[in-house]
Amino acid sequence: MTIIKLKNISKKFKERVVLNNLSIEISKGDMICIMGRSGAGKSTLLNILGLLDTADSGVYEYNNKEIDSGNESLKAKLRRDKIGFVVQTYALINQKKVFDNIALPLYFKRKNKREIKQLVESISRKIGIFELLNKYPYELSGGECQRVAIARALIREPDIILADEPTGALDEETEKEILTLFEKLNKQGVAILIVTHNQMIADVCKTVYLMSEGKIAQLK
Ligand SMILES: Nc1ncnc2c1ncn2[C@@H]1O[C@H](COP(=O)(O)OP(=O)(O)OP(=O)(O)O)[C@@H](O)[C@H]1O
Ligand SMILES: [Mg+2]
Repeated sequence: MTIIKLKNISKKFKERVVLNNLSIEISKGDMICIMGRSGAGKSTLLNILGLLDTADSGVYEYNNKEIDSGNESLKAKLRRDKIGFVVQTYALINQKKVFDNIALPLYFKRKNKREIKQLVESISRKIGIFELLNKYPYELSGGECQRVAIARALIREPDIILADEPTGALDEETEKEILTLFEKLNKQGVAILIVTHNQMIADVCKTVYLMSEGKIAQLK
């Protein structure tokens, strides 16, 4: 079952062609890694997949339905409910406790406090951060912060997680733990796409693409 399909996507920044007629498909059960040198366009591609940016041309399909780039409300809904985004710098709110950081996406939904508490607690247990719920992000290690960010991405039960160098700021041991977590989530049915420079992550992923000259080539 296809989740996201990009067909012949192109994107320029000024005169620089970053994506050149690129196509990619992400299906349920996928665990994909995208590699490529700095500036190759990996984050640009991920932002387009995550509906945070739009291509200049080409087609974006979600669940086999074309998504019009001008349909901001539909895009916002997909971003909110279907797509989990994880970045290298965690993007947590330092003034809010871990609990609230994870619960944040739920505050936009009409859910009562008890439901929210239950959901946050069950996800936190699953990810191994239950003991951290009353702490603030600045009290946590990098690996713990990334777990919190992953919990926040998961709280809506997304179809897919897009992760942009999620272990880029972590030591090797912690990196392995986060990778194991992604594998576990993938086994539970979440499609995962990771942009990384790390070979260990590529080794674990089922599919590996190398990005260069605005295109991707499948290595595995
Ligand atoms: N908002 C923007 N405005 C102008 N140029 C941009 C913008 N975003 C990216 N670029 C340019 O597009 C190219 C691709 O950038 P991108 O961030 O996608 O690379 P990347 O593969 O993610 O690199 P890295 O591995 O360093 O994160 C770069 O040359 C970059 O300078
Ligand atoms: Mg990048």
